[in-house]
Amino acid sequence: MVTDTRYVWVQRSAVVLAAFSIAALQATVPLERVNWHFVLPRLFYVAILFSAVHDGWRGGLITAGLCSGLILSLKQTDTTLHHAMESVVFCFVGTGTGILTERLNAAYQKIQETSEAMKRAERLSAIGQLSAGLAHEIRNPLASIAGAAQILGRAPALDEKQSRCVTIIGQECTRLDRLLTTFLNFARPRPPKMGQAALEPLLENVAALAEYRIGRRGITIERRQQGKIPSLYCDPEQLEQVLLNLLINAVEASPDGAAVILEAGADRRNVWIRVRDEGSGVAPGDIDKLFDPFFTTKENGTGLGLPVAHQIVGQMHGWLDARRNPGKGMTFSVHLPLQRKGV
Ligand SMILES: Nc1ncnc2c1ncn2[C@@H]1O[C@H](COP(=O)(O)OP(=O)(O)OP(=O)(O)O)[C@@H](O)[C@H]1O
Ligand SMILES: [Mg+2]
Repeated sequence: MVTDTRYVWVQRSAVVLAAFSIAALQATVPLERVNWHFVLPRLFYVAILFSAVHDGWRGGLITAGLCSGLILSLKQTDTTLHHAMESVVFCFVGTGTGILTERLNAAYQKIQETSEAMKRAERLSAIGQLSAGLAHEIRNPLASIAGAAQILGRAPALDEKQSRCVTIIGQECTRLDRLLTTFLNFARPRPPKMGQAALEPLLENVAALAEYRIGRRGITIERRQQGKIPSLYCDPEQLEQVLLNLLINAVEASPDGAAVILEAGADRRNVWIRVRDEGSGVAPGDIDKLFDPFFTTKENGTGLGLPVAHQIVGQMHGWLDARRNPGKGMTFSVHLPLQRKGV
């Protein structure tokens, strides 16, 4: 569908102009010229089909109505019944083509989304297989380096510079180990341990954990709930991990003193949990990369937080999406089915 509103209005005006031109032409052709009177009303179909394809069934129906009005207003009395019947066909063709086009567009969009998801899954699997082995191999020597640094650090003869170097080695080993653990969790995720869990205490817990990460930045986490939420069938530990990742991202993107909203609700089929912030947001061109492994704009980011979250929610038969807020910041939403599905 066309989204540029200026272009849409130019198109609509062109259709209206074309319809009026056809009617004006028909009004000037004498009734004896039967062939012309057969051909000209057929031209209205071009305008009707064009509107239906671009504006859906509403566009098709409105243009069909306009063309019917024009054709009937010609007041060529001997053909009024014929024109009235033609008007019915106009409406039928306009609405039918519009509905068909809308369905085709929806199917095309779904195919595109599925193909994107498949491409991502293939990429993840290739990266996962290649690097998981490597990460595993790095971990053992890393543990030896950390152990050796610890032993060195205990030596009494170290001067200040030497002991600072030993501390740096220890800290960097811890950082690398954390990165490798996150990566291995991502590359070889553990299957979820599904069970029934109440959402409220889980959200309370996650909010408390995230507040711990805020420090002195004055950011508040506001909890909101729409209606009563039934207990969820999920892996509570993994869901906490997902929400904590989203909250930490939101806090990191927010300016000091801002609010981050943690909101939950349910409809008939799904429970949704949203994390909304008023932070820096994501550039429009980057929105499709958010769930790609290693996409990060942070100096010390791994770019694995969101891909891991996406993967975990998928394993629980739910989905995670990201939207830019109309004003400022981002909203990430986790959707989980209420009905128990086989895992
Ligand atoms: N709420 C948000 N607002 C703005 N940008 C965001 C938000 N959440 C994620 N992002 C963008 O998405 C990128 C990827 O996020 P992800 O959580 O996967 O990794 P990271 O946060 O960079 O690293 P890590 O999670 O290891 O700290 C971030 O670097 C940031 O650019
Ligand atoms: Mg993150």
